Amino acid sequence: MRDKVVAITGASKGIGAELARQLAAKGARLVLAARGEKELEAVAADCRKAGAGVVTVKADVTDERDCQAIVSGGVVAFGRLDALVNNAGATMWARFEDIDDMSILKRIMDVNYMGAVYCTKHALPHLRDTKGLIVGISSLAGRTGVPTRTGYSAAKHAMAGFFDSLRIELDGTGVGVTMIYPGFVATGIRENATGPDGKPILVSPVKEGEVMSVEACARRIVTAMERREREVVMTARGKIGLFLKLFAPSLIDRMAKRAIETGR
Ligand SMILES: NC(=O)c1ccc[n+]([C@@H]2O[C@H](COP(=O)([O-])OP(=O)(O)OC[C@H]3O[C@@H](n4cnc5c(N)ncnc54)[C@H](OP(=O)(O)O)[C@@H]3O)[C@@H](O)[C@H]2O)c1
Repeated sequence: MRDKVVAITGASKGIGAELARQLAAKGARLVLAARGEKELEAVAADCRKAGAGVVTVKADVTDERDCQAIVSGGVVAFGRLDALVNNAGATMWARFEDIDDMSILKRIMDVNYMGAVYCTKHALPHLRDTKGLIVGISSLAGRTGVPTRTGYSAAKHAMAGFFDSLRIELDGTGVGVTMIYPGFVATGIRENATGPDGKPILVSPVKEGEVMSVEACARRIVTAMERREREVVMTARGKIGLFLKLFAPSLIDRMAKRAIETGR
């Protein structure tokens, strides 16, 4: 990744922030985007300490102009773009029947799916020049249904369909598409998950100490980027579940239900 210019959305915390730190240690130059300016600057400072060139862009990925600004910020600063990591995301923890306000689902679709679409649209001309890489951070919920996640699972499935289609369209251009499907990763995403009343649930129902660390998750993403892998299904349970889904789909439904009930 040395000297590669990598734009990461949702770089202010969690997986995006750790990915930024690990790419900085490998000599990448970074364009870091999120809404939270203070957190973003703290991550940028860590990356600069590791010797990386960094620009930050305060951006809400639900606004197409902000997505354009992420790309142009990187191109103006570094003169090129080698990779875009569509990582910004938000989740929910509520049964569909308990939600009255449907704008909750629209917001989740806008952040996870449309944000990735907008950023990709504006990055693509530059990625064609560099034969670069598009990375989509989906979820195991993007490959199979998960209770309490109707809107999130739909948005992550939408990402998978979009990027799998785009990969075929880009065949022969040299631009790669890497899809990442993590299981539970220990970040703050669940504290911020939207509950049935539209407010963050604040206390994670997941046993965060027992799930994949953010460092391990980011390391696997870096490897996938270096190898330009087509897709990564992160956990053994995810791999087994997707295999079972081919001939016994009710088994993966039970696995998903159990994961939510036990929080691991
Ligand atoms: N953690 C898991 O268990 C897990 C599992 C599977 C997939 N994933 C996926 O991995 C990605 C990263 O998740 P995470 O666990 O690191 O979550 P996180 O710690 O909550 O971080 C989410 C990041 O997205 C940014 N973000 C949220 N809404 C945004 C918006 N409208 N515009 C721009 N940035 C926005 C946040 O920054 P600001 O709030 O500062 O804008 C933050 O930097 C997400 O796509 C998530 O769906 C996570």
